Amino acid sequence: MSILVEIENRFRHALAGLTDNPGPLLEMLRRSQDARFGDYQANFAMPLGKQLGRPPRDVAAEVVAKLNLDDFCLPPEIAGPGFINVRLRDEWLARRLAAAAADPRLGVATVAQPRTVVVDFSAPNVAKPMHVGHIRSTVIGDSLCRTLRFLGHHVISDNHIGDWGTQFGMIIYGYRRFLNQQGYCAAPVQELARLYRLVRQLMDYQDAKRELALGAVAGEKASVTEALISAKASAVGEVEKSAKKKAAKEVRRLEEKLAELEERQQGLLAKVAALEGDAAMARIVADPEHESIGEAVLTETAKLHAGDAENLRLWREFLPPCLDEIDRTYQRLNVSFDHALGESFYHDRLGPIVDELLRSGVARQSEGAVCVFFPDHDVPMLIRKKDGAFLYATTDLATLRYRIEQWNPAAILYVVDFRQSMHFRHLFATARRMGYGDVDLEHVSFGTVLGEDGRPFRTRAGDTVGLESLLDEAVRRAHGVVSANDDAKPGGPELSPEDRQRIAETVGIGALKYADLSQNRTSDYVFSYDKMLAMTGNTGAYMQYAYARVRSIFAKGKIDMDSLANCGESIRLDTPAERALGLELLRFGEAVEAAVRDYRPNQLTGYLFELAGLYSTFYETSPVLKAETEALRRSRLLLCDLTARTIRQGLELLGIDVVEKM
Ligand code: ARG
Repeated sequence: MSILVEIENRFRHALAGLTDNPGPLLEMLRRSQDARFGDYQANFAMPLGKQLGRPPRDVAAEVVAKLNLDDFCLPPEIAGPGFINVRLRDEWLARRLAAAAADPRLGVATVAQPRTVVVDFSAPNVAKPMHVGHIRSTVIGDSLCRTLRFLGHHVISDNHIGDWGTQFGMIIYGYRRFLNQQGYCAAPVQELARLYRLVRQLMDYQDAKRELALGAVAGEKASVTEALISAKASAVGEVEKSAKKKAAKEVRRLEEKLAELEERQQGLLAKVAALEGDAAMARIVADPEHESIGEAVLTETAKLHAGDAENLRLWREFLPPCLDEIDRTYQRLNVSFDHALGESFYHDRLGPIVDELLRSGVARQSEGAVCVFFPDHDVPMLIRKKDGAFLYATTDLATLRYRIEQWNPAAILYVVDFRQSMHFRHLFATARRMGYGDVDLEHVSFGTVLGEDGRPFRTRAGDTVGLESLLDEAVRRAHGVVSANDDAKPGGPELSPEDRQRIAETVGIGALKYADLSQNRTSDYVFSYDKMLAMTGNTGAYMQYAYARVRSIFAKGKIDMDSLANCGESIRLDTPAERALGLELLRFGEAVEAAVRDYRPNQLTGYLFELAGLYSTFYETSPVLKAETEALRRSRLLLCDLTARTIRQGLELLGIDVVEKM
């Protein structure tokens, strides 16, 4: 049990006669930011005093009188308007640390009631290059799996690969018309990706042409311009202050709208001009065959889904090399799955589930299509189109049912982009109507990865950035950082070229993962190689360096940790730096619990960063190998070792490897 939970339990007892609902009050228990206020602080006497109509200090005094913390804390103090400050006993801390040092789990217990949790993450769409958006899902999902497992939950990871979508209709279309046979034999996935991009371009071109021909944007521009003129005129006419303000606001709104339309129109024109200006592409787009490429692609996809022999054969040919390619990326990232049941796995289950939802009245026909309607939501969830085609949502319903029947989980986590929020709201609401009310369904959503210009991260050419090239670049730059660091060592470089390469791979990929995991997952974040590979600040490179630095003490002193661990030495926390480090080491369990509570790995990175900082202070103020006495030397070595192991375990829960030297 973490210290915080232990203290919470004692406070819960003490609060028994004072409130029926201690939960929110106990949530106000915090670690103190300042050692003067003890190690932990309870600030609930103010709200509780208000509830009871009594002075907060009185309430605090009553709680303290009932509180039984004696076995591990000094008598609590009441400060200011009613803060209760709790300080852990040094002897108790030292004992707990010795126990943690002797425990491979570092003193973190597994949960009393393990749950079965399905984690749906990564889920790229194959045959399209995996892009930077998928890295967030992959990295966050993997870390959550590791952390939940560490706490003793039964985790089932399932990669819901997009292997059955329109992209196959696109590739089949391209394959029949534009295949470069030689390229395909040499590097099939690259050739398929090229075909995908080519068909995408042609489709976008046709869409743009059609939109321009319809003149919808131009028409809208004209009417907004007209509205703007009259809004401006009436703004001039207004005399009353608030009316004037309102009119000005309307003018601004219309101006923005106009700028948006202008940008849209320019974008369409640019898209068309770009293809027509490229000699090879111009020839292709001029061919009337591709005018209805959009419908043709849908037809190919529909034929595949209907079991057309030739399209199915092509799909079976395309899929294995695509999956191999993705697997290589997973291997490099050290990510694995218990299952990878892609969309195609559920194909036969889509018809039956729609029929059943119709029968049970959860879904109904609407203008030839089948939809689930929600009382509190305007937009329904479409599960079968008029032409009989099934949708993403249909597959997700079939997947949900399969998982529940197969694994009977307590929770299913979907680690997916926030842009799919509405989809998951609909999915979860439908699940409840299907009678799956007991399963805890969570959309663990995340924001967008931005480029330094603040827009979604793209290559110069405007394509999304492929994951593979991202990894290569991170490793290349990490090599530079590792080499510079090694070259600058006082005694000259220590690493062989092979060492440098191996370390660069670990540091580069670790930096990439850490940069992602250390963000609040719901925010967007700006992708920057320089920032993620900085050797100072809350970065993966810094954490790996911190680990290697602690380990170097053992190498330098030729210390055999095993004999040290068994020497029965007690840990001493005489200086403030030792005590602060010791307490932080014991808070590891708290950080792990916090990381799964809201599914936020940044709770763990934040903890590790703080730990590394406290270690630095300890190291600067407390000689280890040259400690005054042998007993103190051993005690400090135990703290160093526990620090190294905690960093290593913490990074492992983030899916990040350590290096012994850097
Ligand atoms: N393939 C989807 C995409 O790339 C993500 C799938 C997420 N999982 C799910 N069960 N819907 O956007």
